Amino acid sequence: MDNTNVQIEAIIRHWDGELVVTHADQLSGAWFVIAVHSTRLGPGAGGTRMRAYPSLAAAIQDACQLARSMTYKFAAADFPLGGAKAVIALPAVWEQRGRPELLQRFGTLVRRLRGLYVTGPDVGTSATDMDVIGTTGAPYVFGRTAAAGGSGSSAPPTAMGVFYGIEALVAHLFGAPELHGRRVLVQGAGGVGQDLIPRLLAAGAEVLVSEIDPVVVQRLQTTGIAIIHPDQVSGTPCDIFAPCALGGVLNRETIAQLRCRGIAGAANNQLATAEDAERLRARGIVYVPDFVVNSGGAITVVGVEALGWSPAQAEAKVRAIGDTVRQVLQRAEADGVTTDAAARQLAEQRLAQAPTPGAHPMVIASR
Ligand code: PHE
Repeated sequence: MDNTNVQIEAIIRHWDGELVVTHADQLSGAWFVIAVHSTRLGPGAGGTRMRAYPSLAAAIQDACQLARSMTYKFAAADFPLGGAKAVIALPAVWEQRGRPELLQRFGTLVRRLRGLYVTGPDVGTSATDMDVIGTTGAPYVFGRTAAAGGSGSSAPPTAMGVFYGIEALVAHLFGAPELHGRRVLVQGAGGVGQDLIPRLLAAGAEVLVSEIDPVVVQRLQTTGIAIIHPDQVSGTPCDIFAPCALGGVLNRETIAQLRCRGIAGAANNQLATAEDAERLRARGIVYVPDFVVNSGGAITVVGVEALGWSPAQAEAKVRAIGDTVRQVLQRAEADGVTTDAAARQLAEQRLAQAPTPGAHPMVIASR
């Protein structure tokens, strides 16, 4: 058997999830991968990430790891959904022109799973893309635009939750939640980052931003915000580091360089390995686990579109993320464990009380 098969076998066998669906989209050369990590708390839910990957194995690995984080995210938020994720792994050469049809074919696959997996936006997809996926994937597609009957982009409520998390972190570190005069370094001005920045500025924080897209950098420059070169992120002194780009940014190399007091951001899977939580603790840097602080978007769009939450109810749930952050930081301190371990423990307690996988009768459908 060749190396690729061995890799894919190992990824799926060593993963603790329930199911991986792979589909070769012949017309585009893309792969659709749907990883359902856990249905203990409800149907598997998670965004659709769309980008190129070096291999199918890399795409499957990403989907599986991101799906696991969704399980912990919903459990930590005490929200009735399981964890899943989809990846549309684009071929190296690809025509944007075919995007709507590609998304529609993906939507057909989602609908054929009959609610075992429900989707929403993630890196590389938007509310507008959800509208297109929804034409074939409804009612299992969340986060469509208001014009198409959805609750709109999940980025603003995600940013709001991260903001409350940063306030709770600042209160933990400095004794008061005020951001005035605090220096916050935001890595990535994508969907969530560009929503978080004005919130931080409005609260009086000094904001530094790092972004790899030259078009976005140019736009940021006109606002007068300090731009940090992507290579300088870990070494830049700041109070709070907010990773809002891709995962794996907290690793052996970067942690050794960090000059921040605390970390709270929207990116999924910020820790490169499980040991990195201990490395951060050893350096005295307080890390707010990503899955605790970045659930605002997912719970808002599904809460509003499937559970009938009012905007005020959704806001209260997002605000409660700050309380969970406080609880996790206190528990880690009291038990002498990493914040990551404390947060996982909280999520695992909820998962342990739930029925066995697949036993859950609930189907969630968007309005
Ligand atoms: N990108 C979101 C996240 O990681 C996923 C999501 C958004 C899921 C909206 C459902 C609805 O949390």
